[in-house]
Amino acid sequence: MIITTTFVGRLMLQRSLSRPLPSATTSTLQEIASNCPKVAKVVLKKGKTQLFRDGSPMVYSGAVDRILGRPPPKTGDAVLVADGTQKPIGWGFYNSASMFCVRLMQLEEEASKDPSCAMNVEKLLETRICAAIELRKNLGLPSAHTNAYRLVNSEGDRLSGLIVDVFGDLAVIASSAAWVERYKQHIKACISRSIKINHINWRPSIEILKEEGLNVSDLTEEGGLSSSPERVKVLENGISYLISLDGQKTGFYADQRENRQFLSTISEGQEILDICCYTGGFALNAAKGGALNVTGVDTSVPALELANKNVILNDMDHGRISFLRQDATEFMKDALYKEDSWDIVILDPPKLAPRKKVLQSASGMYRNLNSLAMRLTKKNGLLMTCSCSGAMTQSGMFLRVLQGAASMAGRKITVLRQAGAACDHPIDPSYPEGAYLSNILLRVQ
Ligand SMILES: C[S@@+](CC[C@H](N)C(=O)[O-])C[C@H]1O[C@@H](n2cnc3c(N)ncnc32)[C@H](O)[C@@H]1O
Repeated sequence: MIITTTFVGRLMLQRSLSRPLPSATTSTLQEIASNCPKVAKVVLKKGKTQLFRDGSPMVYSGAVDRILGRPPPKTGDAVLVADGTQKPIGWGFYNSASMFCVRLMQLEEEASKDPSCAMNVEKLLETRICAAIELRKNLGLPSAHTNAYRLVNSEGDRLSGLIVDVFGDLAVIASSAAWVERYKQHIKACISRSIKINHINWRPSIEILKEEGLNVSDLTEEGGLSSSPERVKVLENGISYLISLDGQKTGFYADQRENRQFLSTISEGQEILDICCYTGGFALNAAKGGALNVTGVDTSVPALELANKNVILNDMDHGRISFLRQDATEFMKDALYKEDSWDIVILDPPKLAPRKKVLQSASGMYRNLNSLAMRLTKKNGLLMTCSCSGAMTQSGMFLRVLQGAASMAGRKITVLRQAGAACDHPIDPSYPEGAYLSNILLRVQ
């Protein structure tokens, strides 16, 4: 299939100039199918259509009956998705290698209401990104005290595979879909047109893109606009942070913003342990909230260097906050041996269950870590425990794992607060796989 955005764009323009809008009987996508015979069609199996009509954005290959188009579509091409009678139900981006054959971008109903985006990648990007900006504005982002936030959250902003985090005047774009790589220049141009930034950092998610069938050697991390600085300074909840462009994920875990702020409200006069502290997000909020002392532990030297810089940047009393480089389990075992304990413990380990397949073994790791963390929590103290494994969060097993950890530790737990990622990380209920973060506050008796 050969289709370019300009070609479809021209088609849409012609239609708007010379033809009436499609009648109730001729749909917008049907009209495109009739006028552009070269546009490939992915025809779904009978009985497999409703899921996608209801909004599920990922057309898995098992739902596909046949693919029509000569030549056949290539990865990244815009294709129509049709029901068993070949009537289009939407359009999206095709992938010949992935288990997800099409990422649906727009359904027929929406295309008929706003035909300008139908099979028009540039217009769709502009529309979705503008909607994402407006949503963040309505959520108060950015604000005088926070300029680090998620601007585009993949399926949650109906741009499956695209993540954009804004850190002051820098946008970090994380790509995890073939179409995102293909339309890289359009995406960069659209972002830099739409918000006030001076730098763009492009970060391909290599492992996921391999599964998308892309050649890893073709993927490059690169800047855009003027060359990006190595570090940027941002503000979150009124606290300054240095973010390294080589940092983990996009450089900063903006998803925990609201949970960090909550921690600051309960920290006054408390002794606090922040396990897997990264650049000090929870630790600094605890200190801001008046914690008596804060200890942060992590294995990453660059993260801890930044954590220490962040203490200085915020003029927070160095004596009250200390960061240690040590493995979480080792640290907790040593602390138990020394009979140390804390009023509030935060445990935010890396993703221990990257896939459903390893959920069982990961559950054991979560249980052991949490059991140690509970034993380090003073009687009636609090444990804020997290899992960023989508497989764990979606399984609904996390509380059971925590209960197992409590039994192992010989402690009684009560759930006080259950949260996920901050509200700038919207989730499409048609794609529950988008929910990955669990943040649970427990009383530990
Ligand atoms: C999800 S991030 C934590 C984010 C952090 N709480 C924040 O708010 O920015 C997980 C952290 O665990 C650290 N980590 C990974 N393995 C570790 C280990 N064995 N022991 C201690 N820290 C570890 C990583 O370096 C990373 O900083």
